[in-house]
Amino acid sequence: MGTLTTIFSTPPLMVEKYSGDVKTLEEYAESISYHDNQNSYASDNTFVMNDDVFTDLKIFAEKCIEEYTINVFNSNHKFAITQSWITKNDFGQSIDIHSHPGSIISGVFYINLPKDSGCIEFNRGKSVFEIQINKDCSNPWMSDRYRVFAETGYLLLFPSNMLHSVKMNNVNQTRYSLAFNSFPTIPVGDIDMLTYLY
Ligand SMILES: [Fe+2]
Repeated sequence: MGTLTTIFSTPPLMVEKYSGDVKTLEEYAESISYHDNQNSYASDNTFVMNDDVFTDLKIFAEKCIEEYTINVFNSNHKFAITQSWITKNDFGQSIDIHSHPGSIISGVFYINLPKDSGCIEFNRGKSVFEIQINKDCSNPWMSDRYRVFAETGYLLLFPSNMLHSVKMNNVNQTRYSLAFNSFPTIPVGDIDMLTYLY
């Protein structure tokens, strides 16, 4: 048999479990104000991780971003968490497909993810080949969607430009997730390579 080589691939999804207190974060999520955001609700505060209640989670998220950059960029360049907000999905609500402009690595932390309240689905955004040969083929070369069935207390990190959506909440329990963006600290890049940002 000939040799099959993956020439290019997308940056990975990282999943890590948080061992800190999530109950207090859920109480916080229940207590704050929200506004309509398409078919769900988003917190009015879009810098929630700057609140004291998130201190430990923010340290955890920053450690995860550090691990991601070491493994993916082969660099220990520091990233700063920028905006962070809470999404609330009641029964029947979902989140349309989108990406996170203005960010390089994005994350989602599940404050309360009841079973069947809607999983996140990443989307390649285009077909691989222009003809479908086998609808059941789901290897990483051919699949154009990837669903993550996480649980409360899990953190996901992914490239901010990767399209994703959240499926419908099919249970009578509110789903709370915290989303955040991050950006490399300035200066970054290389003067000789003409990639310097300062
Ligand atoms: Fe998102």
